[in-house]
Amino acid sequence: MSNRTYLTTPIYYASGAPHIGHAYTTILADALARFSRQRGDDVLFLTGTDEHGQKIQEEAERRGMQPIELCDAMADRFRAAWEQLEIGFDRFIRTTEAEHRGVVEAFVQRLYDRGHIYEGSYAGWYCVHEERYWTQKDLGEGQTCPDCGRPVQEIEEKNWFFRMGAFQEALVAHIEAHPDWIRPEVRRNEVLGFLQQPLGDLSISRPRSRLHWGIPLPFDPDHVTYVWVDALINYLTASGAIDPALGAEAPGFDDPSASWWPADLHIIGKDILTTHAVYWPTLLMGAGLPLPRRILAHGWWVVGETKMSKSLGNVIDPLELRETFGTDAVRWYLLREMPTGSDASYTPERFLVRYDELAKVWGNLAQRAISMIVRYREGTVPDGDAGGLDPEIALTLDAVEAALAADRLHEALAAAMDLARTANGYVETREPWAQAKDPTRAGDLDDTLATLARLLGVLSALFEPVCPERSAELARRLGLPAVPTIEAARMDAPTGRTVEKGDPLFPRVEL
Ligand code: MSP
Repeated sequence: MSNRTYLTTPIYYASGAPHIGHAYTTILADALARFSRQRGDDVLFLTGTDEHGQKIQEEAERRGMQPIELCDAMADRFRAAWEQLEIGFDRFIRTTEAEHRGVVEAFVQRLYDRGHIYEGSYAGWYCVHEERYWTQKDLGEGQTCPDCGRPVQEIEEKNWFFRMGAFQEALVAHIEAHPDWIRPEVRRNEVLGFLQQPLGDLSISRPRSRLHWGIPLPFDPDHVTYVWVDALINYLTASGAIDPALGAEAPGFDDPSASWWPADLHIIGKDILTTHAVYWPTLLMGAGLPLPRRILAHGWWVVGETKMSKSLGNVIDPLELRETFGTDAVRWYLLREMPTGSDASYTPERFLVRYDELAKVWGNLAQRAISMIVRYREGTVPDGDAGGLDPEIALTLDAVEAALAADRLHEALAAAMDLARTANGYVETREPWAQAKDPTRAGDLDDTLATLARLLGVLSALFEPVCPERSAELARRLGLPAVPTIEAARMDAPTGRTVEKGDPLFPRVEL
Protein backbone atom coordinates (compact mmCIF):
# COMPACT_ATOMS: atom_id res chain seq x y z
CA MET A 1 0.00 0.00 0.00
CA SER A 2 1.44 3.37 -0.87
CA ASN A 3 1.96 6.05 1.68
CA ARG A 4 -0.52 8.94 1.64
CA THR A 5 0.75 12.50 1.76
CA TYR A 6 -1.59 15.46 2.08
CA LEU A 7 0.00 18.87 1.75
CA THR A 8 -1.50 22.31 1.62
CA THR A 9 -0.70 25.93 0.80
CA PRO A 10 -2.52 28.82 2.42
CA ILE A 11 -5.59 29.80 0.44
CA TYR A 12 -4.91 33.21 -1.05
CA TYR A 13 -7.21 36.20 -0.64
CA ALA A 14 -9.30 36.71 -3.73
CA SER A 15 -8.74 40.45 -3.43
CA GLY A 16 -5.27 40.82 -4.95
CA ALA A 17 -3.29 39.33 -7.82
CA PRO A 18 -0.66 36.61 -7.30
CA HIS A 19 2.89 37.89 -6.78
CA ILE A 20 6.21 36.15 -6.12
CA GLY A 21 5.34 35.76 -2.41
CA HIS A 22 2.27 33.67 -3.20
CA ALA A 23 4.17 31.97 -6.00
CA TYR A 24 6.99 31.00 -3.64
CA THR A 25 4.71 29.18 -1.19
CA THR A 26 2.86 27.44 -3.97
CA ILE A 27 5.99 26.39 -5.86
CA LEU A 28 7.57 25.17 -2.63
CA ALA A 29 4.52 23.04 -1.95
CA ASP A 30 4.50 21.81 -5.54
CA ALA A 31 8.14 20.78 -5.39
CA LEU A 32 7.59 18.90 -2.12
CA ALA A 33 4.51 17.24 -3.64
CA ARG A 34 6.57 16.15 -6.64
CA PHE A 35 9.34 14.73 -4.42
CA SER A 36 6.64 12.76 -2.56
CA ARG A 37 5.17 11.46 -5.81
CA GLN A 38 8.65 10.40 -6.94
CA ARG A 39 8.89 8.34 -3.77
CA GLY A 40 5.69 6.62 -4.81
CA ASP A 41 3.39 8.37 -2.35
CA ASP A 42 -0.24 8.91 -3.10
CA VAL A 43 -0.41 12.70 -2.89
CA LEU A 44 -3.19 15.19 -2.25
CA PHE A 45 -1.87 18.67 -2.92
CA LEU A 46 -4.31 21.43 -2.06
CA THR A 47 -4.36 25.11 -2.88
CA GLY A 48 -7.16 27.61 -3.46
CA THR A 49 -8.66 30.99 -2.69
CA ASP A 50 -9.99 32.59 0.48
CA GLU A 51 -13.13 34.35 -0.65
CA HIS A 52 -15.16 35.63 2.29
CA GLY A 53 -14.77 38.54 4.66
CA GLN A 54 -14.68 42.26 4.76
CA LYS A 55 -11.58 42.65 2.60
CA ILE A 56 -13.29 40.93 -0.32
CA GLN A 57 -16.61 42.67 0.29
CA GLU A 58 -14.90 46.07 0.23
CA GLU A 59 -12.73 45.33 -2.79
CA ALA A 60 -15.85 44.23 -4.72
CA GLU A 61 -17.65 47.43 -3.74
CA ARG A 62 -14.68 49.47 -4.82
CA ARG A 63 -14.76 47.82 -8.22
CA GLY A 64 -18.55 48.06 -8.47
CA MET A 65 -18.90 44.28 -8.62
CA GLN A 66 -20.75 41.64 -6.67
CA PRO A 67 -18.35 39.85 -4.30
CA ILE A 68 -18.91 36.55 -6.08
CA GLU A 69 -18.04 38.12 -9.43
CA LEU A 70 -14.77 39.35 -8.00
CA CYS A 71 -14.07 35.93 -6.50
CA ASP A 72 -14.87 34.11 -9.74
CA ALA A 73 -12.47 36.37 -11.62
CA MET A 74 -9.70 36.10 -9.03
CA ALA A 75 -10.02 32.34 -8.59
CA ASP A 76 -9.60 31.99 -12.35
CA ARG A 77 -6.62 34.27 -12.23
CA PHE A 78 -4.87 32.30 -9.49
CA ARG A 79 -5.66 29.01 -11.15
CA ALA A 80 -4.30 30.25 -14.48
CA ALA A 81 -1.15 31.59 -12.83
CA TRP A 82 -0.54 28.28 -11.11
CA GLU A 83 -1.07 26.36 -14.32
CA GLN A 84 1.44 28.58 -16.13
CA LEU A 85 3.93 27.93 -13.34
CA GLU A 86 3.38 24.15 -13.69
CA ILE A 87 1.79 23.77 -10.26
CA GLY A 88 0.35 20.26 -10.23
CA PHE A 89 -2.29 20.83 -7.57
CA ASP A 90 -4.82 18.04 -7.09
CA ARG A 91 -7.53 20.24 -5.70
CA PHE A 92 -8.21 23.97 -5.94
CA ILE A 93 -10.64 24.90 -3.21
CA ARG A 94 -12.79 28.01 -3.08
CA THR A 95 -14.36 28.89 0.25
CA THR A 96 -17.57 29.91 -1.52
CA GLU A 97 -18.14 26.27 -2.59
CA ALA A 98 -21.30 24.66 -1.23
CA GLU A 99 -19.31 21.72 0.16
CA HIS A 100 -17.09 24.03 2.17
CA ARG A 101 -20.02 25.99 3.52
CA GLY A 102 -21.52 22.70 4.73
CA VAL A 103 -18.31 21.67 6.48
CA VAL A 104 -17.92 25.07 8.15
CA GLU A 105 -21.50 24.87 9.42
CA ALA A 106 -20.97 21.35 10.73
CA PHE A 107 -17.69 22.34 12.37
CA VAL A 108 -18.95 25.42 14.25
CA GLN A 109 -22.17 23.61 15.21
CA ARG A 110 -20.03 20.87 16.69
CA LEU A 111 -18.02 23.38 18.73
CA TYR A 112 -21.29 24.89 19.90
CA ASP A 113 -22.80 21.51 20.83
CA ARG A 114 -19.68 20.63 22.79
CA GLY A 115 -20.05 23.81 24.83
CA HIS A 116 -16.95 25.55 23.52
CA ILE A 117 -18.76 28.61 22.16
CA TYR A 118 -20.41 31.39 24.13
CA GLU A 119 -21.99 34.75 23.42
CA GLY A 120 -20.23 37.90 24.51
CA SER A 121 -19.64 41.41 23.42
CA TYR A 122 -16.60 43.05 22.05
CA ALA A 123 -15.57 46.66 22.47
CA GLY A 124 -12.33 47.92 21.02
CA TRP A 125 -10.51 48.58 17.80
CA TYR A 126 -10.86 46.72 14.53
CA CYS A 127 -8.60 46.55 11.50
CA VAL A 128 -10.62 45.83 8.37
CA HIS A 129 -7.58 44.87 6.36
CA GLU A 130 -6.29 42.30 8.82
CA GLU A 131 -9.85 41.48 9.90
CA ARG A 132 -8.87 41.44 13.50
CA TYR A 133 -9.47 43.19 16.77
CA TRP A 134 -6.87 45.15 18.70
CA THR A 135 -6.79 46.63 22.16
CA GLN A 136 -5.80 50.23 22.76
CA LYS A 137 -2.34 49.25 23.94
CA ASP A 138 -1.67 47.23 20.74
CA LEU A 139 -2.20 50.20 18.45
CA GLY A 140 0.52 51.99 16.56
CA GLU A 141 0.92 55.75 16.36
CA GLY A 142 -2.19 57.68 15.32
CA GLN A 143 -4.59 54.77 16.03
CA THR A 144 -3.20 52.45 13.39
CA CYS A 145 -3.04 48.67 13.04
CA PRO A 146 0.27 47.36 14.44
CA ASP A 147 0.41 44.75 11.65
CA CYS A 148 -0.41 46.68 8.49
CA GLY A 149 -0.24 50.32 9.63
CA ARG A 150 -3.71 51.16 8.33
CA PRO A 151 -6.16 53.21 10.45
CA VAL A 152 -8.39 51.12 12.76
CA GLN A 153 -12.07 51.64 13.63
CA GLU A 154 -13.54 51.76 17.11
CA ILE A 155 -16.41 49.32 17.45
CA GLU A 156 -18.61 47.65 20.00
CA GLU A 157 -20.58 44.61 18.98
CA LYS A 158 -22.02 41.28 19.99
CA ASN A 159 -19.77 38.35 19.09
CA TRP A 160 -19.63 34.63 19.54
CA PHE A 161 -16.45 33.44 21.22
CA PHE A 162 -14.57 30.16 21.08
CA ARG A 163 -13.03 29.11 24.40
CA MET A 164 -9.56 29.00 22.94
CA GLY A 165 -7.93 29.63 26.30
CA ALA A 166 -9.26 26.29 27.55
CA PHE A 167 -6.90 24.48 25.16
CA GLN A 168 -3.75 26.41 25.91
CA GLU A 169 -2.20 23.78 28.15
CA ALA A 170 -3.01 20.97 25.75
CA LEU A 171 -1.47 22.94 22.89
CA VAL A 172 1.74 23.67 24.77
CA ALA A 173 1.99 20.00 25.72
CA HIS A 174 1.52 19.01 22.10
CA ILE A 175 4.24 21.36 20.86
CA GLU A 176 6.62 20.19 23.56
CA ALA A 177 5.97 16.53 22.82
CA HIS A 178 6.49 17.03 19.07
CA PRO A 179 9.71 18.98 18.48
CA ASP A 180 9.22 18.97 14.71
CA TRP A 181 5.59 19.99 14.72
CA ILE A 182 6.47 23.57 13.79
CA ARG A 183 9.51 24.19 11.64
CA PRO A 184 11.90 25.94 11.55
CA GLU A 185 12.80 26.08 15.20
CA VAL A 186 12.68 29.88 15.45
CA ARG A 187 9.01 29.71 14.56
CA ARG A 188 8.38 26.98 17.09
CA ASN A 189 10.03 29.14 19.73
CA GLU A 190 7.99 32.10 18.63
CA VAL A 191 4.76 30.17 19.20
CA LEU A 192 5.94 28.80 22.54
CA GLY A 193 6.87 32.36 23.56
CA PHE A 194 3.45 33.62 22.55
CA LEU A 195 1.86 30.85 24.61
CA GLN A 196 3.62 32.01 27.76
CA GLN A 197 0.95 34.70 28.08
CA PRO A 198 -2.55 33.55 28.96
CA LEU A 199 -4.38 32.73 25.74
CA GLY A 200 -7.58 34.74 25.34
CA ASP A 201 -10.75 33.47 23.73
CA LEU A 202 -11.28 33.88 20.02
CA SER A 203 -14.10 35.85 18.46
CA ILE A 204 -15.42 33.60 15.72
CA SER A 205 -18.24 35.72 14.33
CA ARG A 206 -18.95 39.08 12.75
CA PRO A 207 -22.40 40.73 12.81
CA ARG A 208 -24.11 40.38 9.48
CA SER A 209 -25.30 43.97 9.66
CA ARG A 210 -21.67 45.01 9.14
CA LEU A 211 -20.46 42.12 7.03
CA HIS A 212 -22.82 40.11 4.86
CA TRP A 213 -20.16 38.29 2.83
CA GLY A 214 -19.56 35.20 4.92
CA ILE A 215 -21.01 31.90 6.08
CA PRO A 216 -23.88 32.45 8.57
CA LEU A 217 -23.52 30.64 11.89
CA PRO A 218 -26.03 27.79 11.96
CA PHE A 219 -27.05 28.68 15.53
CA ASP A 220 -27.28 32.45 14.90
CA PRO A 221 -27.86 33.50 11.29
CA ASP A 222 -27.45 37.18 12.20
CA HIS A 223 -23.74 36.50 12.45
CA VAL A 224 -21.31 35.22 9.86
CA THR A 225 -18.30 33.04 10.62
CA TYR A 226 -15.04 34.94 11.16
CA VAL A 227 -13.12 34.65 7.91
CA TRP A 228 -10.07 33.04 9.50
CA VAL A 229 -12.15 30.26 11.04
CA ASP A 230 -13.92 29.79 7.72
CA ALA A 231 -10.58 29.77 5.87
CA LEU A 232 -8.71 27.34 8.14
CA ILE A 233 -11.50 24.80 7.81
CA ASN A 234 -10.73 24.58 4.08
CA TYR A 235 -8.03 22.04 4.88
CA LEU A 236 -10.61 19.78 6.41
CA THR A 237 -13.15 20.31 3.62
CA ALA A 238 -10.68 19.36 0.92
CA SER A 239 -9.64 16.24 2.81
CA GLY A 240 -13.18 14.93 2.43
CA ALA A 241 -13.00 13.83 6.06
CA ILE A 242 -16.18 15.59 7.11
CA ASP A 243 -19.43 14.76 5.38
CA PRO A 244 -21.50 17.96 5.39
CA ALA A 245 -24.72 15.98 5.03
CA LEU A 246 -23.90 13.95 8.13
CA GLY A 247 -22.39 16.94 9.90
CA ALA A 248 -19.76 14.49 11.12
CA GLU A 249 -16.78 12.39 10.09
CA ALA A 250 -17.25 10.71 6.74
CA PRO A 251 -17.14 6.91 6.62
CA GLY A 252 -13.55 5.67 6.68
CA PHE A 253 -12.34 8.67 8.70
CA ASP A 254 -10.22 6.48 10.98
CA ASP A 255 -8.79 4.36 8.18
CA PRO A 256 -5.38 5.79 7.21
CA SER A 257 -5.57 4.10 3.80
CA ALA A 258 -8.86 5.83 3.01
CA SER A 259 -8.77 9.14 4.83
CA TRP A 260 -6.72 12.24 4.01
CA TRP A 261 -7.09 13.76 7.46
CA PRO A 262 -4.91 14.72 9.31
CA ALA A 263 -2.92 16.75 6.79
CA ASP A 264 0.76 15.85 6.70
CA LEU A 265 2.05 19.34 6.11
CA HIS A 266 0.64 22.86 6.16
CA ILE A 267 3.05 25.11 4.26
CA ILE A 268 2.58 28.76 5.22
CA GLY A 269 4.40 32.09 5.38
CA LYS A 270 5.63 33.26 8.77
CA ASP A 271 2.96 36.00 8.71
CA ILE A 272 0.20 33.50 9.37
CA LEU A 273 1.89 31.43 12.03
CA THR A 274 -0.45 32.25 14.92
CA THR A 275 -3.58 31.41 12.99
CA HIS A 276 -2.12 28.05 11.92
CA ALA A 277 -0.21 27.07 15.04
CA VAL A 278 -2.61 28.41 17.69
CA TYR A 279 -6.12 29.05 16.36
CA TRP A 280 -6.31 26.04 14.07
CA PRO A 281 -5.04 23.33 16.46
CA THR A 282 -7.18 24.61 19.33
CA LEU A 283 -10.24 24.72 17.09
CA LEU A 284 -9.51 21.12 16.06
CA MET A 285 -9.08 20.11 19.69
CA GLY A 286 -12.43 21.72 20.45
CA ALA A 287 -14.03 19.74 17.66
CA GLY A 288 -12.32 16.54 18.84
CA LEU A 289 -10.38 16.08 15.58
CA PRO A 290 -6.74 15.12 15.05
CA LEU A 291 -4.18 17.89 14.49
CA PRO A 292 -2.15 18.31 11.30
CA ARG A 293 1.14 16.41 11.48
CA ARG A 294 3.43 19.33 10.70
CA ILE A 295 3.59 23.04 9.91
CA LEU A 296 6.37 24.57 7.85
CA ALA A 297 6.60 28.37 8.01
CA HIS A 298 8.81 29.99 5.42
CA GLY A 299 10.27 33.48 5.36
CA TRP A 300 9.42 36.66 3.60
CA TRP A 301 10.44 37.95 0.17
CA VAL A 302 11.37 41.57 0.13
CA VAL A 303 12.45 43.59 -2.90
CA GLY A 304 15.93 44.92 -2.44
CA GLU A 305 15.57 46.19 1.11
CA THR A 306 11.88 47.03 1.00
CA LYS A 307 8.64 45.26 1.68
CA MET A 308 6.75 44.42 -1.49
CA SER A 309 3.56 46.43 -1.70
CA LYS A 310 1.04 47.65 -4.20
CA SER A 311 1.32 51.21 -2.95
CA LEU A 312 5.11 51.23 -3.37
CA GLY A 313 4.64 49.82 -6.85
CA ASN A 314 7.43 47.28 -6.38
CA VAL A 315 5.40 44.09 -6.61
CA ILE A 316 7.22 41.42 -8.60
CA ASP A 317 4.99 39.53 -11.00
CA PRO A 318 6.14 35.94 -11.45
CA LEU A 319 4.33 35.69 -14.77
CA GLU A 320 6.28 38.58 -16.20
CA LEU A 321 9.56 36.90 -15.22
CA ARG A 322 8.27 33.73 -16.78
CA GLU A 323 7.70 35.50 -20.11
CA THR A 324 11.41 36.29 -20.30
CA PHE A 325 13.08 33.35 -18.58
CA GLY A 326 10.56 30.50 -18.68
CA THR A 327 8.67 28.73 -15.92
CA ASP A 328 11.49 26.57 -14.64
CA ALA A 329 13.84 29.52 -14.18
CA VAL A 330 11.30 31.32 -11.97
CA ARG A 331 10.77 28.19 -9.93
CA TRP A 332 14.49 27.51 -9.62
CA TYR A 333 15.29 31.07 -8.60
CA LEU A 334 12.65 31.22 -5.88
CA LEU A 335 13.43 27.84 -4.35
CA ARG A 336 17.20 27.93 -4.71
CA GLU A 337 17.68 31.52 -3.62
CA MET A 338 15.61 31.52 -0.42
CA PRO A 339 17.00 29.37 2.39
CA THR A 340 13.83 27.50 3.38
CA GLY A 341 12.51 29.23 6.48
CA SER A 342 14.56 32.44 6.21
CA ASP A 343 13.86 35.72 4.47
CA ALA A 344 15.30 36.60 1.08
CA SER A 345 15.59 39.63 -1.10
CA TYR A 346 14.57 39.70 -4.73
CA THR A 347 16.99 41.50 -7.02
CA PRO A 348 17.29 41.23 -10.82
CA GLU A 349 21.04 40.65 -10.38
CA ARG A 350 20.51 37.57 -8.21
CA PHE A 351 17.89 36.31 -10.61
CA LEU A 352 20.45 36.43 -13.41
CA VAL A 353 23.06 34.67 -11.28
CA ARG A 354 20.63 31.82 -10.66
CA TYR A 355 19.61 31.73 -14.30
CA ASP A 356 23.24 31.49 -15.32
CA GLU A 357 23.69 28.55 -13.00
CA LEU A 358 20.90 26.70 -14.78
CA ALA A 359 22.21 27.62 -18.20
CA LYS A 360 25.94 27.21 -17.67
CA VAL A 361 26.07 24.25 -15.33
CA TRP A 362 23.12 21.97 -15.96
CA GLY A 363 22.12 23.25 -19.43
CA ASN A 364 25.69 23.23 -20.67
CA LEU A 365 26.38 19.73 -19.39
CA ALA A 366 23.28 18.37 -21.12
CA GLN A 367 24.18 20.13 -24.34
CA ARG A 368 27.77 18.94 -24.53
CA ALA A 369 27.08 15.37 -23.42
CA ILE A 370 24.28 14.86 -25.91
CA SER A 371 26.27 16.57 -28.69
CA MET A 372 29.16 14.19 -28.12
CA ILE A 373 26.93 11.14 -28.28
CA VAL A 374 25.60 12.48 -31.58
CA ARG A 375 29.02 13.38 -32.91
CA TYR A 376 31.03 10.32 -31.85
CA ARG A 377 28.39 7.59 -31.77
CA GLU A 378 25.76 8.75 -34.25
CA GLY A 379 23.25 9.55 -31.55
CA THR A 380 23.14 6.11 -29.95
CA VAL A 381 24.36 5.60 -26.38
CA PRO A 382 27.26 3.13 -26.76
CA ASP A 383 27.64 -0.12 -24.86
CA GLY A 384 29.97 1.13 -22.10
CA ASP A 385 30.16 1.04 -18.34
CA ALA A 386 27.62 3.67 -17.21
CA GLY A 387 28.81 3.58 -13.61
CA GLY A 388 31.65 6.12 -13.83
CA LEU A 389 29.88 8.60 -11.55
CA ASP A 390 27.91 6.17 -9.38
CA PRO A 391 29.74 7.05 -6.14
CA GLU A 392 29.09 10.77 -6.72
CA ILE A 393 25.45 10.01 -7.47
CA ALA A 394 25.11 8.03 -4.25
CA LEU A 395 26.61 10.86 -2.20
CA THR A 396 24.32 13.39 -3.85
CA LEU A 397 21.22 11.32 -3.22
CA ASP A 398 22.14 11.02 0.45
CA ALA A 399 22.64 14.78 0.67
CA VAL A 400 19.33 15.44 -1.06
CA GLU A 401 17.48 13.09 1.24
CA ALA A 402 19.02 14.59 4.37
CA ALA A 403 18.21 18.12 3.21
CA LEU A 404 14.62 17.21 2.44
CA ALA A 405 14.18 15.49 5.78
CA ALA A 406 15.32 18.72 7.43
CA ASP A 407 12.98 20.85 5.24
CA ARG A 408 15.97 22.54 3.68
CA LEU A 409 14.95 22.38 0.07
CA HIS A 410 17.50 24.95 -1.07
CA GLU A 411 20.26 22.61 0.12
CA ALA A 412 18.76 19.68 -1.76
CA LEU A 413 18.82 21.82 -4.91
CA ALA A 414 22.37 22.94 -4.26
CA ALA A 415 23.40 19.28 -4.01
CA ALA A 416 21.71 18.48 -7.33
CA MET A 417 23.47 21.40 -9.01
CA ASP A 418 26.79 20.29 -7.52
CA LEU A 419 26.33 16.91 -9.13
CA ALA A 420 25.98 18.65 -12.51
CA ARG A 421 29.15 20.62 -11.69
CA THR A 422 30.97 17.41 -10.81
CA ALA A 423 29.87 15.90 -14.10
CA ASN A 424 31.21 18.90 -16.00
CA GLY A 425 34.50 18.28 -14.19
CA TYR A 426 34.31 14.63 -15.22
CA VAL A 427 34.04 15.67 -18.85
CA GLU A 428 37.11 17.89 -18.46
CA THR A 429 39.15 15.10 -16.89
CA ARG A 430 38.09 12.36 -19.27
CA GLU A 431 38.59 14.56 -22.35
CA PRO A 432 36.25 12.59 -24.60
CA TRP A 433 37.48 14.64 -27.58
CA ALA A 434 40.94 13.15 -27.04
CA GLN A 435 39.49 9.67 -26.48
CA ALA A 436 37.67 10.05 -29.80
CA LYS A 437 40.87 10.74 -31.68
CA ASP A 438 42.58 7.61 -30.43
CA PRO A 439 41.08 4.35 -31.81
CA THR A 440 42.70 2.34 -29.00
CA ARG A 441 40.58 4.27 -26.48
CA ALA A 442 37.18 3.57 -28.06
CA GLY A 443 36.16 1.58 -24.99
CA ASP A 444 37.04 4.49 -22.71
CA LEU A 445 34.94 6.82 -24.83
CA ASP A 446 32.01 4.38 -24.63
CA ASP A 447 32.32 4.41 -20.82
CA THR A 448 32.43 8.20 -20.71
CA LEU A 449 29.36 8.63 -22.88
CA ALA A 450 27.34 5.90 -21.14
CA THR A 451 28.23 7.41 -17.77
CA LEU A 452 27.06 10.83 -18.91
CA ALA A 453 23.82 9.39 -20.30
CA ARG A 454 23.02 7.79 -16.96
CA LEU A 455 24.02 10.90 -15.07
CA LEU A 456 21.76 13.10 -17.17
CA GLY A 457 18.84 10.78 -16.42
CA VAL A 458 19.59 11.15 -12.71
CA LEU A 459 19.66 14.92 -13.09
CA SER A 460 16.35 14.98 -14.93
CA ALA A 461 14.85 13.08 -11.98
CA LEU A 462 16.53 15.29 -9.37
CA PHE A 463 15.56 18.54 -11.04
CA GLU A 464 12.04 17.46 -11.94
CA PRO A 465 10.36 18.69 -8.74
CA VAL A 466 11.69 22.20 -9.35
CA CYS A 467 12.14 22.31 -13.11
CA PRO A 468 9.43 19.96 -14.38
CA GLU A 469 9.34 21.39 -17.87
CA ARG A 470 13.04 21.28 -18.75
CA SER A 471 13.48 17.94 -16.96
CA ALA A 472 10.79 16.40 -19.14
CA GLU A 473 12.47 17.88 -22.22
CA LEU A 474 15.83 16.47 -21.14
CA ALA A 475 14.32 13.03 -20.54
CA ARG A 476 12.79 13.17 -24.00
CA ARG A 477 16.14 14.08 -25.57
CA LEU A 478 17.73 11.16 -23.74
CA GLY A 479 15.22 8.85 -25.40
CA LEU A 480 13.42 8.10 -22.14
CA PRO A 481 9.63 7.72 -22.21
CA ALA A 482 9.25 10.10 -19.22
CA VAL A 483 11.24 11.57 -16.35
CA PRO A 484 12.44 8.49 -14.46
CA THR A 485 12.16 8.02 -10.72
CA ILE A 486 15.43 8.65 -8.94
CA GLU A 487 15.89 4.95 -8.24
CA ALA A 488 15.21 3.98 -11.86
CA ALA A 489 17.61 6.67 -13.07
CA ARG A 490 20.51 5.54 -10.92
CA MET A 491 20.11 1.91 -12.05
CA ASP A 492 19.51 2.91 -15.63
CA ALA A 493 21.18 1.00 -18.48
CA PRO A 494 21.19 3.63 -21.21
CA THR A 495 22.93 1.53 -23.87
CA GLY A 496 21.29 1.61 -27.27
CA ARG A 497 19.05 4.55 -26.60
CA THR A 498 18.76 7.21 -29.28
CA VAL A 499 19.42 10.72 -28.08
CA GLU A 500 18.43 13.95 -29.70
CA LYS A 501 20.23 17.24 -29.78
CA GLY A 502 18.14 20.37 -29.43
CA ASP A 503 18.43 24.02 -28.56
CA PRO A 504 20.10 24.80 -25.25
CA LEU A 505 17.84 23.88 -22.31
CA PHE A 506 18.23 27.45 -21.03
CA PRO A 507 18.90 29.79 -23.93
CA ARG A 508 20.85 33.01 -23.66
CA VAL A 509 18.37 35.71 -22.73
CA GLU A 510 18.40 39.08 -24.48
CA LEU A 511 17.39 41.71 -21.94
N1 MSP B 1 -6.09 34.11 3.16
C1 MSP B 1 -5.03 34.08 4.11
C2 MSP B 1 -4.55 32.66 4.38
C3 MSP B 1 -5.62 31.72 4.84
S1 MSP B 1 -5.01 30.11 5.02
C4 MSP B 1 -6.20 29.26 5.78
C5 MSP B 1 -3.88 34.92 3.60
N2 MSP B 1 -3.83 35.11 2.29
S2 MSP B 1 -2.73 35.96 1.49
O1 MSP B 1 -3.23 36.11 0.13
O2 MSP B 1 -2.40 37.16 2.19
O3 MSP B 1 -1.49 35.03 1.38
C6 MSP B 1 -0.63 34.89 2.46
C7 MSP B 1 0.50 33.95 2.09
O4 MSP B 1 1.13 34.34 0.86
C8 MSP B 1 1.61 34.02 3.11
O5 MSP B 1 1.40 33.19 4.21
C9 MSP B 1 2.77 33.51 2.29
O6 MSP B 1 2.66 32.13 2.18
C10 MSP B 1 2.51 34.16 0.96
N3 MSP B 1 3.13 35.48 0.88
C11 MSP B 1 2.51 36.68 0.65
N4 MSP B 1 3.46 37.64 0.58
C12 MSP B 1 4.68 37.11 0.76
C13 MSP B 1 6.02 37.58 0.68
N5 MSP B 1 6.32 38.82 0.46
N6 MSP B 1 7.01 36.66 0.83
C14 MSP B 1 6.76 35.33 0.99
N7 MSP B 1 5.53 34.86 1.05
C15 MSP B 1 4.47 35.74 1.09
O7 MSP B 1 -3.06 35.32 4.40
